Amino acid sequence: MLAGRRIVLGITGGIAAYKSAHLARLLVQAGAEVRTVVTESALRFIGPATLSGLTGVAPATGFWDEPTAAPHLDLARWADAVCVAPATAATMARLAHGLSEDLLSAVVLATRAPVVIAPAMHSEMWSHPSTRRNLAALLADGVTVVGPASGPLAGGDAGPGRMVEPEEIAAALERSLGAGTLEGWRVLVTAGGTREPIDPVRFVGNRSSGKMGHAVAEEAAARGAVVTLVTAADPPAARRLEAIRVETAQEMAEAVWSRAGEVDVAVMAAAVADFRPAQPASGKLRRAAGPPDLVLEPTPDVLAGVAAMRPRPFLVGFAAETGPAEGAVAKAVSKGVDLLVANDVTVAGSGFGSEDNEVALILPDGTLERWERLPKRRVAALLWERIAELRSRGTP
Ligand code: CTP
Repeated sequence: MLAGRRIVLGITGGIAAYKSAHLARLLVQAGAEVRTVVTESALRFIGPATLSGLTGVAPATGFWDEPTAAPHLDLARWADAVCVAPATAATMARLAHGLSEDLLSAVVLATRAPVVIAPAMHSEMWSHPSTRRNLAALLADGVTVVGPASGPLAGGDAGPGRMVEPEEIAAALERSLGAGTLEGWRVLVTAGGTREPIDPVRFVGNRSSGKMGHAVAEEAAARGAVVTLVTAADPPAARRLEAIRVETAQEMAEAVWSRAGEVDVAVMAAAVADFRPAQPASGKLRRAAGPPDLVLEPTPDVLAGVAAMRPRPFLVGFAAETGPAEGAVAKAVSKGVDLLVANDVTVAGSGFGSEDNEVALILPDGTLERWERLPKRRVAALLWERIAELRSRGTP
């Protein structure tokens, strides 16, 4: 289930680097998008042409060779997961201490995606107390460490320190991305901003791009769920994802209410209009007729309709706020949701139209959990982990 996943593959200077070419190939064959980042010493073991040929993109070799101002941040934010294979003793030391003097270490320091490393070194180096300390620090930071295995090493030696096989690294990457964790789940997601017609050419709308809801839907599908996405924006295409394109709050309500009884989880990320023109004109309103009186009426509350169903799915609401997240706590209670994701849409670089989101979760007991600013896909990944955890505790 690596299809569509974005993987940064970091390669450092050890003889096992030749196997990383095979790993790159496995990931590409599984449908992942792969960008490689190589250290200077890795280039003594593996050529850039090999990696370009396998991934379709030239490897990134350093800060100063890339056309963008901050290639480490671009790669760190782009990645759904970062893999370092092989990870030499020196690389482990750098990563454990946050020393970001080369591009790869800077990517690992800057990313908030899962990190998987596959150490490879001589047995003496692997068992040295400093490597043990670095290993403990990396594990404590949440890094997944696969291997090393025991077997033949460079220079005719043998023992623990050999990089595990590429298949095992690919499997660890899949696990770090939550592959299969939503297997058997049926999920409904709403997304986008509804448009309520004033006349055949004009509408009352909002600034939602649909990116957050689409990320939630795509992430669920990537984790194995069967997803229905009801969206007022142009939908993404993905395996196990059925998209239903709607325009108005009324259409969204009908699409959602007719399906919500069949799903396990409903995530309502759409920005639904609360009011619509009571009597949209059938023909274009003319300027010469002067400014029209726009009389508005309430739209159906899609979420409230799902909250009232018995039985109902595990229900996640979103709240677009223009102030501190504390303001959304009362909303979580009044809406009757199991989880509310609040975001302040006035924060620069977060929310409407942006690639990132800075959200706060309001948990069933009313506690507020603030998350740092993250790429929307990462917010979606963490959200599904949280939902799985809450559901396993026995909430509906
Ligand atoms: N929502 C909905 N149908 C509506 C309005 C909102 O399903 N007609 C859902 C949104 O998808 C979101 C949640 O309700 O999950 C909260 O939306 P928000 O606009 O923040 O809340 P409102 O209830 O509209 O409250 P207010 O406008 O007063 O902030």
